[in-house]
Amino acid sequence: MSKPDLVHWSPDSWRARTALQQPRYEDSELLASCLREIAGRPALVHQGEVLALRQQIAEAGEGKRFILQAGDCAERFVDCSPKSISDKLKIILQMSLILVYGLRRPVVRIGRIAGQYAKPRSDDLETLGGISLPSFRGDIINGIAFEEEARRHDPRRLVQAHTLSCYTLNSLRALVEGGFADVRHPEMWKLDHVSEHHQPRLYTDLSDRVRESTRFMELLGGANPDFMRRVEFFTSHEGLLLDYESALTHWVSVPGAEKPGWFNLGAHMLWLGERTRQLDGAHAEYLRGIENPLGIKVGPTADPAEIVSLVQCLNPNNVPGRITVITRMGAGRVRGALPGLVKALHSAKVFVTYSCDPMHGNAIKTQNGIKTRDFASILAELNETQAVHKESGSLLGGVHFELTGENVTECIGGGGGLAEEHLTQNYQTACDPRLNYSQSMEMAYLISDGFAK
Ligand code: PEP
Ligand code: CO
Repeated sequence: MSKPDLVHWSPDSWRARTALQQPRYEDSELLASCLREIAGRPALVHQGEVLALRQQIAEAGEGKRFILQAGDCAERFVDCSPKSISDKLKIILQMSLILVYGLRRPVVRIGRIAGQYAKPRSDDLETLGGISLPSFRGDIINGIAFEEEARRHDPRRLVQAHTLSCYTLNSLRALVEGGFADVRHPEMWKLDHVSEHHQPRLYTDLSDRVRESTRFMELLGGANPDFMRRVEFFTSHEGLLLDYESALTHWVSVPGAEKPGWFNLGAHMLWLGERTRQLDGAHAEYLRGIENPLGIKVGPTADPAEIVSLVQCLNPNNVPGRITVITRMGAGRVRGALPGLVKALHSAKVFVTYSCDPMHGNAIKTQNGIKTRDFASILAELNETQAVHKESGSLLGGVHFELTGENVTECIGGGGGLAEEHLTQNYQTACDPRLNYSQSMEMAYLISDGFAK
């Protein structure tokens, strides 16, 4: 392969590179008209918000904040409903309250939401009963039903995904701006399906304490009501579908800067997946040209030198907050892989913020062939990662989870004792297994408790 041209960049320069994991559309004219429609629509986010997030991620890298990035593995079109959206916001708000309290640091809340519709797949085809059809790649590309028509890659789904991202984000903004996230009333964040009796005691105690202290601040006259009434909430998704992402890329003026810049205005943050992070690949080429903060997923087999080159390619000016290295090694593999990576990044003097995704390295299949993850392994990876960072003199600035506020039965373990035989009770995910409400809350407590030490 020829040497990448690092000087010239455009939202379409990735087209000269190999792009893995892309859909194959039969009707290129239909695709072009769908992309034109998306490109002509108003932006979902503002460049000022994107830069604010980048700054906050930089502060997380210095230990002044902590990032909670969480949401579905893949959002489904049917989940764009008022209840599903507010439940996702509620669980992230509840967890962030626990983390703020335990870690004594502001929490940066980033949803895997309002655009997380595409999935990378290991196999192009799925075979069932002797019939092979294209794999399901997320609702933005094809349908999950094992039928020829559903599995066809349809560009009209790109437009639909964009419309639903817009509804979702609008609803999140209305909830956050309208006072739903008011820290003086955390009781509003309670999930309906979790009975009074099952609200974790510690959480109820914590909300009471928060209410008392905010009341006290108000009495002192020192409260800033707006600060208490609303929280910041950011969106993110995997930067996977390059046709779609480049349609969302705009040349816009930057608050306080002399020159305009290229921003992806479809989400605040994008991440580069473990399967598509080749240094000379199309994904790195696209992402290097936009100003948004970027995540890079790094698995246990990554070559540290290659990750250093990738970070340098994506962040040539070494801007703090631009790159979050999201490690996803798998429990038991952190000690073997993370110290070398941290050492290489440190020696190269590149600014990165570290986060840990303890989900994607810990997938297992039950004897009945059900994809699951064990709460104990998820926690073990987090603890190993935190320990290695402590020993290496680096900081773990955040965590990345696949979870939901719903009462699903997708991951085993946790205090509720969810076992393999319970998995079929409410297994909903369109892709990977997520922590359910009580598993997520328990995880937040364990992080608050363990990491504060
Ligand atoms: C994901 O975050 O959904 C994902 C596919 O992760 P990874 O690229 O780390 O496997
Ligand atoms: Co996933």
